[in-house]
This record gives sequence, C-alpha cells and structure tokens, in this order.
Amino acid sequence: MTATGPVVAFYDTHPINEDQILRALADRGTAADALTEEILKDHDQDHFGGIEANDILIAAAGIRPDHVVLDVCSGMGGPARYLAHRIGCRVVGLDLTESRHASAQRLTRLVHLDHLVEFRLGNALEMPFEDASFDVVMGQEAWCHVPDKPRLIAECARVVKPGGVIAFTDILRRDALTGPEMERLTREMTFPDLETLDGYARLLAANDCSVLRRDDLSELWARILIQRLEMYRSLGSDTARKFGTARSQQWDATYAFFVERFAVGGLGGGRFVARRAD
Ligand SMILES: C[S@@+](CC[C@H](N)C(=O)[O-])C[C@H]1O[C@@H](n2cnc3c(N)ncnc32)[C@H](O)[C@@H]1O
Repeated sequence: MTATGPVVAFYDTHPINEDQILRALADRGTAADALTEEILKDHDQDHFGGIEANDILIAAAGIRPDHVVLDVCSGMGGPARYLAHRIGCRVVGLDLTESRHASAQRLTRLVHLDHLVEFRLGNALEMPFEDASFDVVMGQEAWCHVPDKPRLIAECARVVKPGGVIAFTDILRRDALTGPEMERLTREMTFPDLETLDGYARLLAANDCSVLRRDDLSELWARILIQRLEMYRSLGSDTARKFGTARSQQWDATYAFFVERFAVGGLGGGRFVARRAD
C-alpha cells in the first residue's frame, strides 16, 4: 500500500475546513446550534460547481429514496449530507483523513442528519465493505488523490450491486501536461497519478461497467477555477492565522499553478456515469 501521509497532511492544513465554515456562517449571523442543512449546503461542498454539480450527478445516477449510496473520499461530508437531505436516501461516506472524518461527523450531527448519513474512516483502495453493498457509488474531485486507479475502479465495481451505478467527477490529465508539471502536482497537490477521460472509460469497461454518460468538463472547470482561486485568496488571512503564513503563501502559489494548467490544456475534468452488469 502506498504512503497516505502526504494527502492526510494536505487535508489537515486545507484552507477549506470546519472552523472556516462555521466562522463564515457565524459572520453571516448563523450560530452553530441554529444551523440547518438548507444553510450549510452552500458552504461545505469541497468540489467544483457546488450543489448544482451534485444535482447533475444525482439525476444522472437516478438516485432514489430507497437507495443506499457510498461517497468515496467524502471529505467533510457536504455531498453526502446534501444527498440525504434532498433525496432522503441513506448515505455512507468513506474518507482517509481523520480530521476530515471527524468534521464530517460533527457537521452531520449539527444539522441532525446522522440518522441517514454515516462516515467510515478508511482507504478507497481497501474499502471496508462487503461485495455488492451499495446501489450507487459516487465521488467528486477526490479520486485524483488515489494512486492506483485500476484498483480504485475495481473496488467501486466490487462494492456496487449488480445493476448498480458508479457516478463520479474527477480531475484529469490532458495532452499538454508535461512531466515536470505532473511532478509538481504530485508534490504540492498530492495527485500521485491522474487518469484521462479515455483511461477511466477503459477501466470501467474492464470491470464490467457500461458507460451511460461521459462528459468532458474541462472548459467549464477552467472558468469555475478562476473564481475558486479568488475565493481561496479571500481566505488567505484566515489560512495564515490557522496554519501559518508559509502555508498560506504556498497554497496560493500552488493553486495558481493548478488553475493555470486548466487554462493551457494540461488538466481537465470529466464526469462518468456507468452501470455494473446484472
Ligand atoms: C477534495 S476532498 C473531496 C471532498 C468531497 N468529495 C466534497 O465534494 O466535498 C478529497 C478527499 O479525498 C480524501 N482521500 C484522498 N485519498 C483517499 C483515499 N485513498 N481513500 C479515502 N479518502 C481519500 C481526502 O482525505 C479528502 O478528504
């Protein structure tokens, strides 16, 4: 098993975190004990495109109230809570980073969704679930951190039921990405390896999953990420206070480099919806 230390350290010092979310809400006049999912959902989504992106995935995957859904690399649990709140289904979130896992549990209790949403601490490459446990397996902008994509997709296909759906979005490698740029992304963004649009399609097919939908999100994300860099810059003093000036400055340089790769065609994004054979 590859070392998980760098990705855990990355998320332990991430500018988007539970304290930052609760402080932003308090500044807007919502105390933690008055928090509802209707309010929280616009502040806790750590992927591109916010709840609209969740809605597209939910509709494309056909998620229903009687489904049990697994969110692989669930972070602080924003999408898992939103799904349970909007659809009423049960959701399990799996994440490797203890600080993210603990935040996910606390935020879920705060908005009283813990009867529908539970979190497990664990690695996506060794999922702590029986075969065929879930109707839908999903993920958003997180599988880029997982080193062994063939094993990741094989794990998703193992835990989804026959006839069930795997639906995800992820950051992808494109032709213009150079070796040194990939090395910097590995070091600074903890992307050990990135898949391509064709590569994910091949991996799904190799695991008996037929691709129902495959969308290239590269142009959309290039636009969204310009706003996201501005959002991170607005959090700069917050990040410096919590994790130190060096981390805040390093984050800014790294994220600007990351966003630029989308503008020049080195990085892109993709959405996949696939069905496991019956
Ligand atoms: C960008 S966050 C995504 C959070 C969530 N999808 C959302 O939209 O709010 C990425 C998460 O992936 C988790 N992660 C990275 N590698 C993992 C692995 N091998 N197994 C489980 N979780 C992992 C990190 O701990 C982090 O919380």
